[in-house]
Amino acid sequence: MNAETALRNSAVPAGLLQSRAPRDTFAAVADAVCTGLLRKRKRLPPWLLYDDEGSALFEEITRLPTYYLTRTERAILLAHADAMVEAAGLPREVVELGAGSASKTRILLAALSRRQPRLRYVPVDVSPSALSQAAIQLRDLSLVDVRPAVARYPEELGFLRRPAGGRRLVMFLGSNVGNYDPPRAVDLLAAVRRQLAPGDGFLMGVDRRKSPALLLPTYDDNLGVTERFSKNVLTRLNRELGAHFALDRFRHVVTWNARASRIDLYLESASAQRVAVDALGVKVDLAAGERIHTESSYKLTDARVRQLLERGGFVPEASWTDERRLYGVHLARVPLD
Ligand code: AVI
Repeated sequence: MNAETALRNSAVPAGLLQSRAPRDTFAAVADAVCTGLLRKRKRLPPWLLYDDEGSALFEEITRLPTYYLTRTERAILLAHADAMVEAAGLPREVVELGAGSASKTRILLAALSRRQPRLRYVPVDVSPSALSQAAIQLRDLSLVDVRPAVARYPEELGFLRRPAGGRRLVMFLGSNVGNYDPPRAVDLLAAVRRQLAPGDGFLMGVDRRKSPALLLPTYDDNLGVTERFSKNVLTRLNRELGAHFALDRFRHVVTWNARASRIDLYLESASAQRVAVDALGVKVDLAAGERIHTESSYKLTDARVRQLLERGGFVPEASWTDERRLYGVHLARVPLD
């Protein structure tokens, strides 16, 4: 079943549905390998982690006892959804970047739909299967008009240029912002801000800086789910580019970089190896112990969050946190000129 069929089957109007042509995906994955693996400091872009299997594995991660982010964000939303939608000015349209399965979003949408009956929800994700899940999750919120969009951000936010017919709230939950290096996070926020009108809101969930003793097991769980998630990128390259990565010849390595305030995920080559990538006619050489960087997860202080929002052109307005101050949800606004 393709993405469009999946969404139709879930009775979602596919009005805004945009599918990435398979050729575009192939070119992007090929480019990621050529620019990331044929160099000394090897890296792969984190979006490669989120194919259908990767998105499903990430969903599994969010349910792990060690992964406190999702349940803490959910608890904050449950406790403060009413205050958040009021502070956001009862938007007419809610856009969610990196919507995933939208299980937390429904808390806010439910609070909003009690006050704002003409509500449109635009989940945006690179993964069509995640969008199908989002649509299924929200089926019972019959008053919410769901318009999914398969798009990568910030490059493909042009569809936001059409008028929202009222105030808009863009949500960026799940601490997804933490997967961007700070300058790129600012670029992303600025790109979002450029599509918005004065008075529109921006709601961002952020994992706060804390002890590595708590952070490291969060990204190296004893059930090995995060390891499978990280290694899935190699399975993807095998499938999509005819690469020959043997997963058992790589180790899942997690480090804490205190200066940069971030967790780094790597795949470390267990031995010297040469891996052919048939579709590209290239070979990737790895020394024993050489690492491929797959993802960073920044952990931000409140001051750092405010700075990112301001550099992106927003005015920070309100923040909510949990009892243990593990996580923060921040509301900012596009200034009225
Ligand atoms: C999606 N993102 C916020 C997750 C994180 O915590 O940085 C991705 C993740 N990678 C491994 N575990 C979770």
